[in-house]
Amino acid sequence: MRIERAAVIGAGVMGSGIAAHVANAGVPVLLLDIVPPQANNRNALAEAAVERMLKAEPAPFMSKAAARLVTAGNLEDDLARLAEVDWIVEAVVENAEVKRALYAKLEALRKKGSILSSNTSTIPLAKLTEGLPKSFARDFLITHFFNPPRYMRLLEIVAGPSTRKTATEAIRRFADERLGKGVVECKDTPGFIANRIGTLWLQVAVGSAFELELSVEEADAVAGRPMGVPKTGVFGLLDLVGIDLMPHVAASMLASLPAGDMYRSLFKEIPLVGKMIAEGLTGRKGKGGFYRLQRKDGGERVKESIDLKTGAYAPSTKPQLESIGAARKGGLKALVEHPDKGGQYAWRVLSHTLAYAAALVPEIADTIPAVDQAMRLGYAWRYGPFELIDQLGTGWFAEKLKAAGMTVPPLLERAGGRPFYKTDAGKLHYLKTDGEYAELTRPAGVLLLADIKRASEPLARNASAALWDIGDGVVCLEFRSKMNAMDPDILDLVQKAIKLVKEKYKALVIYNEADNFSVGANIGLALFAANVALWPMIEEMVAKGQATYKALKYAPFPVVAAPSGMALGGGCEILLHSSAVQAHAESYMGLVEVGVGLVPGWGGCKEVLTRWLRNPKRPGGPMPAIGKAFEMIGTAQVAKSAFEAKEMLLLRESDAITMNRDRLLADAKAKALKLAKRYKAPEPAAEIRLPGRSAKVALELAVEGLRRQGKATAHDVTVSGELATVLSGGDTDITETLGEDDLTRLERRAFMTLVRSEATLERIEHMLETGKPLRN
Ligand code: NAI
Repeated sequence: MRIERAAVIGAGVMGSGIAAHVANAGVPVLLLDIVPPQANNRNALAEAAVERMLKAEPAPFMSKAAARLVTAGNLEDDLARLAEVDWIVEAVVENAEVKRALYAKLEALRKKGSILSSNTSTIPLAKLTEGLPKSFARDFLITHFFNPPRYMRLLEIVAGPSTRKTATEAIRRFADERLGKGVVECKDTPGFIANRIGTLWLQVAVGSAFELELSVEEADAVAGRPMGVPKTGVFGLLDLVGIDLMPHVAASMLASLPAGDMYRSLFKEIPLVGKMIAEGLTGRKGKGGFYRLQRKDGGERVKESIDLKTGAYAPSTKPQLESIGAARKGGLKALVEHPDKGGQYAWRVLSHTLAYAAALVPEIADTIPAVDQAMRLGYAWRYGPFELIDQLGTGWFAEKLKAAGMTVPPLLERAGGRPFYKTDAGKLHYLKTDGEYAELTRPAGVLLLADIKRASEPLARNASAALWDIGDGVVCLEFRSKMNAMDPDILDLVQKAIKLVKEKYKALVIYNEADNFSVGANIGLALFAANVALWPMIEEMVAKGQATYKALKYAPFPVVAAPSGMALGGGCEILLHSSAVQAHAESYMGLVEVGVGLVPGWGGCKEVLTRWLRNPKRPGGPMPAIGKAFEMIGTAQVAKSAFEAKEMLLLRESDAITMNRDRLLADAKAKALKLAKRYKAPEPAAEIRLPGRSAKVALELAVEGLRRQGKATAHDVTVSGELATVLSGGDTDITETLGEDDLTRLERRAFMTLVRSEATLERIEHMLETGKPLRN
C-alpha cells in the first residue's frame, strides 16, 4: 500500500511538525484542529500553526514548495476530506478519552483500509483501542515521533495484537524511505524505549548532581561529551526541552510503570525544580533555566548558571575536574574509576542508566541494537547503552555492580564477560537474549561505509582521505581530516582516485559518514602560509585545487558526490564539479568564503555563474545571472536543505535527494552505476560572454549603498569588489568570449589579492579561534 495523501489531526507542537515533515516528503497533507470557540476564522488553529512554522528556526519545512502541500482545515467542516487520505496521524492532547472519542468519529468516515496512528508518548495501545471495533484495531498503530519531527531521526512504532502486518509495514517503509526516519519497533510498554530509559537517566543525573554537590557546569561536563552525549548534558537539555515538562513526565511514568521499577525507587521531588517552575524559570522558552544569558550594563550578554544549593544565579564557570581529563585520556572506564566527585557522579549516572537498560531487554524491545538505536536517534547519544557497557567491559561492569550492592541484570549475567557486540569475519554481531550471537544485518537499500571499513582494507589512504572498494566496480572517496577540511592530501587522493578508477573501476562516489561532508578548505593551512609570506605555496594550492576539480569534472567515468550535513566552500565546490550529486535532504551547501575575507577559488564562482547564465528560466541578458551569483556568494548564503540547494542551482534538476541518511551511499552507488552504463565525459564548457567593467560598476554601486546603510563593512566592500571583478568577467566586454580557464584565472587572482590583505587574515584568525565570522 502506498501513502499518497495524509492527514494530521491536532496542529500543536507535534502535529504541525509532523505535517510539515510529511510535506517535506512530497506528500500532500491535511492539517486539522478544533474550531476555536467564537472563532471568526474556523481554521485559525491550523493556519496559525503553518504561519508559525514558516518563521520558525530551525525550519520545519525543507522548502517553500513543501509548505504549499499543507492544507489547513478544521475538524467540523473538513471531516469528509479525511475519506481521501491513506494515513491519518492523530496528535491531539495526551488524553485517552479525547483520543478515543476522536477515533470513534473517524472510524465512520475514513477510507476503507486507510491507516490511523497515534503520536501518543505515554498511553498504551491497548488503552487507546478499548471499546473500539475490530475493524479499527486492525488499521491502528502508534507512531511516536520526537520533537522536532524533521530533525529528530527516531520513530518508535508500536503495533497491537490485532494490527495488520501490512499496515505496520506500509508505515515502516514510508517512514524509513520517505521521511528518512530510523524506525524502531517497540513493545507496548510505558514510554516505549527512548523515553523509558531517557527519563530514568535524567532523573538519576539531576538527582545525583544535587546529592554529590556538583555545579550544573560540572554535571553537564561529565554527563555530556565523555559519555558521548551532546554537550548540553542534562541541565542544558532540560533548559532546551522545558523544565516544566519534568513533573508531567514523572507523573505519567509513575502512573504507568510496573511495581518495583528502578525509576520508582530513584524518583524524588526536587524542591528547586518546583520553585523554578513556579517562578517561570522554565528554560530557554521562559525567563531562564539552569543556565541563562543575562545582559550586563555594557550591553554584553553573560552566561550565568543557577547554584543548585541556593537557587541564586552567578556567572558560569568552567569546571575543573581531574576526572574529565582522565576520561579524555583513558576513556569511560578511567572516568567512572576516578575518585573525585566527577568520577563518582559518572558512576552513579552510568551504573543506574546502563543497568536499567540491560534489565529492560526483552521487556521493551526484542534486541539490544533496537535499544541502542533508539537512544542514538532519539536522544542524540553517540553510543547506545549496550555500546557504553562494552566500553566498560561486561565482566567488569557486572562485578562493579555487584560490589556496589546493585542487581546484575540477567542479560548482563548471560553475557558472562563476552561483549554485547563483536566483529566476526568482518561482520558485526550482537548478543541475543538467548546468549547466542547473531549477525547485525542491514535492510535492503542500506549500505554503510562503516561496515565496509570493518571488513576490508582501503585501496589507498593518507592522513586526510581514503579510497574504498564498495563493490560492483565502484570506488568511494572518504574524507577523514579534522572536520573534513579540504587540504593538499585530499586533493592528492582525488587525483589518485581518478587514475585508479580510469584503470580498473567503473565509477567514483565521494561520500563519508561524519556529521559534515566538509566544512571547506583548511584555512589554518592558508593562515600559516600567509603568516610566513609563502605566497607561491598558497597560489599553488589554489591552482592545484582548480586543476583537480577540473579533472574530476572531465573524468571519463561518472563521479557521484553524496553529501550530508555541511558542504561549504571547497566542500561545496567539489559537488559543483561532480557529474551528479545524490544529496541527503539534510545537506547544507554554500559558498561561504567571504566570511573569511576570500572568494571561492576552486571553480565555485565559475560554476555558480555558468549555472545561472544557462538557467532556462533566466530573463534576458547576463546581468540577472551575475547579480544572482553575486548575491549568493557575496552574502555567503547557505541552503538549509538539499531542496533549497536546488532552488539556488547549487544542485541541478537531475541531481537526486535521499531522505534517509542510511540509504545515501546505496543510492549514490546505484546512481553511479546507472550513469556508468553509457557514460561520456562532458564536452568542454561552451564559451560565455560577460559585460566586464560596466557590470562591475553596477555591483559595486549596490554594495556602496549597503555600506552607507551600515549593512556592509569596509572589508566587505573590498571583498565584494574582488568578487564583482570575477563575476563580471574582469577586463572584458560583451564582444569577447571567455572560457572556463579564464574564469578560474580571475578567481585565482582575486583570491591572491585578498589573502594578502591584513583584514582577510584577521577574519581567518577569528574564524579559527571562535568559529564565527568577523565583521571588520
Ligand atoms: P499540543 O498541546 O501542542 O497540541 C495539541 C493539539 O491538539 C492542540 O492544537 C489542540 O487544539 C488540539 N486538540 C485539543 N483537543 C482536541 C480535540 N478534542 N480534538 C482535536 N484536537 C484537539 O500538544 P503536543 O505536544 O503537540 O502533543 C500532541 C501529542 O503528541 C500528545 O499525544 C503528546 O503526548 C505527543 N507527543 C508530544 C511530544 C512533545 O515533545 N511535545 C513528543 C512526542 C509525542
